[in-house]
Amino acid sequence: MLKVLQHPLITHKLTQMRKKETKTKDFRQNLDEIAGLMAYEITRDLPMKDVEIETPITSFTTQEMEKDIVLVPILRAGLGMVNGISNLIPTVKIAHIGLYRDEETLEPHTYFEKYPKKVSDAIVMIVDPMLATGGSAIAAIDMVKKQGAKNIRLVCLVGAPEGVHAVEEKHPDVDIYLAALDEKLNEHGYIVPGLGDAGDRIFGTQ
Ligand code: URA
Repeated sequence: MLKVLQHPLITHKLTQMRKKETKTKDFRQNLDEIAGLMAYEITRDLPMKDVEIETPITSFTTQEMEKDIVLVPILRAGLGMVNGISNLIPTVKIAHIGLYRDEETLEPHTYFEKYPKKVSDAIVMIVDPMLATGGSAIAAIDMVKKQGAKNIRLVCLVGAPEGVHAVEEKHPDVDIYLAALDEKLNEHGYIVPGLGDAGDRIFGTQ
């Protein structure tokens, strides 16, 4: 399932990120804020469990989140979405997957992976701002599935139709969340209109 999370705040902040004159500090801050807004929507259907608590007044049956949430940023651009989500869900455990794209073949290569325990029972959110060819996302989903993950959500800021279709074809069980579905990929693998190289713009390395 693909869900494009449309909200005036998300659209406004994404517009600031797309502008070429937007500086690193504002780019990062808008990404943080959008990631938090997206997390709010994406967690709407989280499974809950009944708990018996004591308020200062009385005993009370209410609910808490039932499952652990594991956030999986794809290095390095995915790191830009971690703060916004972990501010909202401070109990998240954070895995890391390091992938780089071969500039010629655009194929992903793994250079790092580290997971918390009990990924298999958790809600796993893979985060990466740009869903371009889908190669990195597919590789990351393959990797978390090898760890036993069953409930996987892919959370990206901007997606290209090519990347969405590739992920849907390989992993139809994974829900994809975007802030915007853009037009296409260009011949260099960049999303059009996009926002340029997300990693470079987050870390000021352009
Ligand atoms: N990665 C990026 O950072 N930007 C794109 O447009 C595509 C892939």
